[in-house]
Amino acid sequence: MNKKTVRDIEVAGRRVFVRVDFNVPLDQGRITDDHRITAALPTIAYLCDHDAAVILASHLGRPKGPEPSLRMDPIARRLQELLRRPVRKLDDCVGPEVEAAVGAMRRGDVVLLENLRFHPEEEANDPSFARGLARLAEVYVNDAFGTAHRAHASTVGVAKLLPAVAGLLMERELTFLGKVLEAPTRPLVAILGGKKVEDKIGVIRNLLRLAQTMLIGGGMCYTFLRAAGGKIGASLCEADKLDLAGELMADAQRRGVRLLLPVDVVAAQRPSADAAVRTVDARAIPDGWMGLDIGPRTEAAFAAPIAAAGTVLWNGPMGVFELAPFAHGTQAVARAVAESPAESIVGGGDTASAVEQLGYADKMTHISTGGGATLEFMEGKVLPGVAVLMDR
Ligand code: 3PG
Repeated sequence: MNKKTVRDIEVAGRRVFVRVDFNVPLDQGRITDDHRITAALPTIAYLCDHDAAVILASHLGRPKGPEPSLRMDPIARRLQELLRRPVRKLDDCVGPEVEAAVGAMRRGDVVLLENLRFHPEEEANDPSFARGLARLAEVYVNDAFGTAHRAHASTVGVAKLLPAVAGLLMERELTFLGKVLEAPTRPLVAILGGKKVEDKIGVIRNLLRLAQTMLIGGGMCYTFLRAAGGKIGASLCEADKLDLAGELMADAQRRGVRLLLPVDVVAAQRPSADAAVRTVDARAIPDGWMGLDIGPRTEAAFAAPIAAAGTVLWNGPMGVFELAPFAHGTQAVARAVAESPAESIVGGGDTASAVEQLGYADKMTHISTGGGATLEFMEGKVLPGVAVLMDR
């Protein structure tokens, strides 16, 4: 991690603008997963303890203008409970009233601005909107790893106008994810799942350069099985990615990467919790049946390299884990990763929720708060919200 952090800059008595990613899932105004809020607490607490005035800003959802259901109020309430300090929620993120409110802040105060995306200028990285944000503070901190792949006003525009450093969560993400790409403890085992090959092409390509073993499950494994000559019944298949899947398998072979596909799968005639299920050979799925999870022989075949790994990087569930009959494969992989002595890095989104729901979160070395950002980082891309921060 070659970026300066909050520890490298004077913050006492200063107003510090902190871009956080509080884009959390909500169900009728209730936060259903507050992992992204708890993950930002160390930076906020550090700044308060070091006498800064802390101005927090985030987006929530994808509004195209002000939208009452996406106001930041429930987040401010949750943050206040977790932080055990008052958090004042403001009704906008720029303008004279906001400037007056932050001007009156004292050391250790915390405010949370209104949803940045209520202003379309945020996503447009509009220079005058960025200047409006910059006027609020003297120092800029980016702790929003999950949004670092977006070149928006609050992630890039304002960072060019103030001394800009990484927060402690950003530092943690870049350290753990960066180590996988730069100096993983070998052997590196990459476990990839999720629905589509299309979403993971860049990640597979980049990891084939680095990993010793790649395990492929989830909806995307059926396109690979088909490309390898298997009969996949009614399973998900991306017809336009068959050639690509073939090329990726050939690339793995050329590079000496052990690429394992499922040998058996749990199949049903429809993806439903009450459907009849059968465990079948992964390359001989009956007509009308679709693979919806990896089977027990595959679980065992995947568990062996996971147990012997130096580093495990996992992104994407092994099946439709939201439905009980198809959750076992993801559970088995989570258990294998949790029990392995390897450093275990879990990449964002669905995989993070699966690991948390299954109760293995505290057994993992690092669970990324990023979804799209983690994937782009794993593809080897430079994230604009990181590039703009000051180098050490
Ligand atoms: C995420 O949830 O991946 C981040 O908060 C970014 O959100 P976005 O995809 O709406 O830009």
